[in-house]
Amino acid sequence: MIVLLVTCLVALLCPTVRSADAPLVWCYHKPECNFTTWPKISSQYCNGSQQSPINIVTARVQENPNLTAFNLTGFDDNSTFLSIANAADSVVVNLDDEKIKVQGGDIPGVYNTKQFHLHWGKGSSSPGSEHTVDGKQYPMELHIVSVHSKYNGNVSAALAAKDSTGLAVLGFFIEGTNEVNKTKSWDILTSYLTNIRNSGEQTSDIMNQITLNSLIEGVDRTKYYRYQGSLTTPGCNEAVIWTVFKEPVKVSHDFINRFSTTVFFKDANASILNTYNFRGVQPLNGRVVTSQVTVTSAAPPSSTLSVITILLLSSLYWL
Ligand SMILES: *[C@@H]1O[C@H](CO)[C@@H](O)[C@H](O)[C@H]1NC(C)=O
Ligand SMILES: *[C@@H]1O[C@H](CO)[C@@H](O)[C@H](O)[C@H]1NC(C)=O
Ligand SMILES: *[C@@H]1O[C@H](CO)[C@@H](O)[C@H](O)[C@H]1NC(C)=O
Ligand SMILES: *[C@@H]1O[C@H](CO)[C@@H](O)[C@H](O)[C@H]1NC(C)=O
Ligand SMILES: *[C@@H]1O[C@H](CO)[C@@H](O)[C@H](O)[C@H]1NC(C)=O
Ligand SMILES: *[C@@H]1O[C@H](CO)[C@@H](O)[C@H](O)[C@H]1NC(C)=O
Ligand SMILES: *[C@@H]1O[C@H](CO)[C@@H](O)[C@H](O)[C@H]1NC(C)=O
Ligand SMILES: *[C@@H]1O[C@H](CO)[C@@H](O)[C@H](O)[C@H]1NC(C)=O
Ligand SMILES: [Zn+2]
Repeated sequence: MIVLLVTCLVALLCPTVRSADAPLVWCYHKPECNFTTWPKISSQYCNGSQQSPINIVTARVQENPNLTAFNLTGFDDNSTFLSIANAADSVVVNLDDEKIKVQGGDIPGVYNTKQFHLHWGKGSSSPGSEHTVDGKQYPMELHIVSVHSKYNGNVSAALAAKDSTGLAVLGFFIEGTNEVNKTKSWDILTSYLTNIRNSGEQTSDIMNQITLNSLIEGVDRTKYYRYQGSLTTPGCNEAVIWTVFKEPVKVSHDFINRFSTTVFFKDANASILNTYNFRGVQPLNGRVVTSQVTVTSAAPPSSTLSVITILLLSSLYWL
């Protein structure tokens, strides 16, 4: 997430890992800097206890009646996509954060939406989502990144404040479908990838073409998981209220395949196609994932469990 900015933060916060001769930067595709090494490369936060992504175990999800509907402002406005960029490790679409806002859904206040970016594997059949659900990994994941309005659109300021609710990220799973041209918006979005094949390239031609809503068409915005976590790239700051929507966006296989066959990683030595740009799941460490839907499974939440235990004990007493 927020790749360029976060690289700078690593430089600020972890000066010891960057010697002038051999700057050791994080990556996805090399053993010396892939995500298993991040706790060493960027130990201040990547080694933390509230890290993202996570595997969501649906049987342990607890009910939270506060998780109401979102109020998504500007999601139907096609004049909000400022540019699309190859930001070294992902494709990022920069958004007009004065027009796009997220509130409701039990997040504390109004959040200005800065950008969205994607994580993927290698084509629609080799998964690449960051979050998983009961171990299932989806082909791709879309992250819409917003920062609390009190930071005036400054993500660095939110991270510097060490505010655990400084950022709100909406995560959408992408699933492949055999239907062709699904959807027109994904066709348009992915058609720009050939203009940003190399790291650092960007184009603003994408303006006035696509709305955010058209990219997440078909997803019920009232059904989601909620937990407290982190950025999924170094510095892995634990500053994110995560919302992961249950229903995936359905996108034609062809459009999904364009990502892993078109854009390159930043790599000084070779042109290497960007594939598998996701972080593996992190330990929950006691965190609880909540959701709207009543959980009626074999593993009830602990509060229910204690009630059942008390009932069992009382019935034993009567026996
Ligand atoms: C990451 O690199 C380590 C070695 O540092 C290697 O054992 C591991 O298989 C790699 N994992 C991925 C997902 O590339
Ligand atoms: C990560 O944190 C744990 C516990 O604080 C510590 O034992 C471990 O050495 C740390 N690892 C790194 C790579 O900093
Ligand atoms: C719901 O919100 C109320 C009021 O803010 C709070 O007291 C309560 O703990 C919340 N419930 C959950 C499950 O988070
Ligand atoms: C949604 O947010 C917009 C912009 O902040 C606001 O004008 C509108 O009143 C909100 N709608 C609801 C239903 O809260
Ligand atoms: C954003 O916040 C950072 C950290 O507080 C600060 O250094 C920087 O000047 C701010 N940027 C802008 C454009 O205000
Ligand atoms: C899909 O879109 C392309 C380009 O817009 C068009 O030529 C083609 O006819 C469409 N196919 C179907 C089945 O709609
Ligand atoms: C963008 O939205 C404006 C205003 O709703 C509309 O007139 C225009 O046709 C839209 N552009 C595209 C490419 O859909
Ligand atoms: C990449 O280039 C650097 C500098 O020329 C070199 O030290 C390094 O070994 C190269 N890495 C690979 C994987 O070829
Ligand atoms: Zn992300």
